[in-house]
Amino acid sequence: MEKIVDLLSARVARAFEAAGYDPALGQVTVSNRPDLCQYQCNGAMSGAKQYHKAPFLIAQAVVEALAGDEMFSKIEMVKPGFINLDLSGSFLARCMNEMNADPRGGVEVTDRPQSIVVDYGGPNVAKPLHVGHLRSAVIGESIKRTARFMGHRVVGDVHLGDWGLQIGQIITELRERQPELPYFDPDFAGEYPAEAPFTIADLEEIYPCASKKSKEDEAFKAASQQATAELQAGRRGYRALWKHIIDVSVADLKRNYEKLDVSFDLWMGESDAQPYIPAMVEQMKADGYAYLSDGALVVDVAEAGDKVEVPPCLILKSDGAAQYETTDLATIVQRRQDFDPDRIIYLTDKRQELHFTRVFRCAYKTGLVDRDKCSLEHIGFGTMNGKDGKPFKTREGGVLRLEYLLREVTDAVYEKSRANSSGNISDEELRQIAETVALAAIKYGDLSNQPSKDYIFDVDRFSAFEGNTGPYIMYSMVRIKSILKKFSAAFPEVALGTILPPDRKSETDLMLTLSRFNETVCQTYEQKAPNRLCHYIYELTGVFNQFYNECNIMKEADAARQASYVTLLQLVLHVLEIAIDLLGFSAPDRM
Ligand code: ARG
Repeated sequence: MEKIVDLLSARVARAFEAAGYDPALGQVTVSNRPDLCQYQCNGAMSGAKQYHKAPFLIAQAVVEALAGDEMFSKIEMVKPGFINLDLSGSFLARCMNEMNADPRGGVEVTDRPQSIVVDYGGPNVAKPLHVGHLRSAVIGESIKRTARFMGHRVVGDVHLGDWGLQIGQIITELRERQPELPYFDPDFAGEYPAEAPFTIADLEEIYPCASKKSKEDEAFKAASQQATAELQAGRRGYRALWKHIIDVSVADLKRNYEKLDVSFDLWMGESDAQPYIPAMVEQMKADGYAYLSDGALVVDVAEAGDKVEVPPCLILKSDGAAQYETTDLATIVQRRQDFDPDRIIYLTDKRQELHFTRVFRCAYKTGLVDRDKCSLEHIGFGTMNGKDGKPFKTREGGVLRLEYLLREVTDAVYEKSRANSSGNISDEELRQIAETVALAAIKYGDLSNQPSKDYIFDVDRFSAFEGNTGPYIMYSMVRIKSILKKFSAAFPEVALGTILPPDRKSETDLMLTLSRFNETVCQTYEQKAPNRLCHYIYELTGVFNQFYNECNIMKEADAARQASYVTLLQLVLHVLEIAIDLLGFSAPDRM
């Protein structure tokens, strides 16, 4: 379905033309004074200069050219030269029926599909997922789903941190604890055990212990660095251990992401990019971009007009070690080869902004990608803080594990639903419902903020059933589901499917809001702003509740009118369902 603003703009442009003016002046926007009109066009104001004419004369002529068009119920010139428009009920009803007939709720598929890689999640193996990784997963998943819904070819890559010092630390700690394992015997030529010598629970204890030692004990630190270097150089036993660490870790990560309803097409990591480094570095040297500075190989990426200093991109340290930058650059080479992407979108904490600025500039400058063919984009998000305004911590002050956060919110929702429920839902089902609603609470609580902003994660507020929260949206959806069920039980013979022109203000508002779904999804995608879609569904549930409170559907005497109301509710539910799926959560059938 074409976007309403586009339809209106095209229509008004024709009227400008018919009146002898430039059609480009016919741009229509949603009214910024909804108390006065639904849509407006300010073209006559800009046309005034161009035509040396009073704007109201231009507007008047356009209004006359529009007169009688059944698309509108109001076409009005307001001095000094605004054109105010209201849509007619018949036009709105036609839009509703068109949306209703479309499984996509009227959202058009792009006519220029792109190939897009979304790099999100970014967990580090052997370290438990903590809340710092939550935002990347939640925002990235929504951006991926929205891009895909728009018709783009999208791959989501978890981009594991699987190549760093943490692996060397774990190897060193394991060697201290179990030196007899074959992985440490340089002469061992047999096959290593298929089974890992540790569980995820072991790893979770080993890693923090090793990391602490590495900070306190110089010898341990040196040994860890040595082990990392040997691993990277290909030492057989270390490679085998590393593989175990990844397998055990990834199995656990998958379980956790599944709970978040986040899934990746690719489970690639930093290690996968390593083979691309040597040739890339040689090329950068050969082309004269990379040069030695204090023993390190660097590429200058500062630009005139930089407000902060942008240091050169570090390609190889003086000991020859590849850096975080190097790996990201090589990953670009790899992705280009695998997907030839038009866009790569990265989601990390905004504190990594300078890193990505340097990587992107270096990639463009050295020709790893062509600026016009592939856009590299970083979405840097703000911090999720606790109620005290400081980064979220456990009561003991440690980093909070994602699992615990999920559990805490699920418990809060469960307690509320149990208190609210009339006792006709089994405890088991209540638990399941709480899981679904808790996920909505967490994701909506996050996504309803502009990504770049910090926000306060308040379990009580996020899990409240009233206000601008996930559970409130769920509650409204459950309400519609239950009305629909009640209705079909009471009136099984009523044929649904046709929506009539609205017969009251609240119904007009509801239709008007529904009709803007298409453009909202497009804007959400273009601006990479899931908060826009959150805002929309909050508004939609608000107008729905208003409408529903005003009209008694069950008692409506006019059968066609009644069927129209119910069909409209089905459409509201359908739109909400599409929207929350794009946001990455789902609604229960009852709560
Ligand atoms: N593993 C990194 C971290 O925990 C995030 C990786 C983000 N993606 C990337 N291509 N650099 O900070």
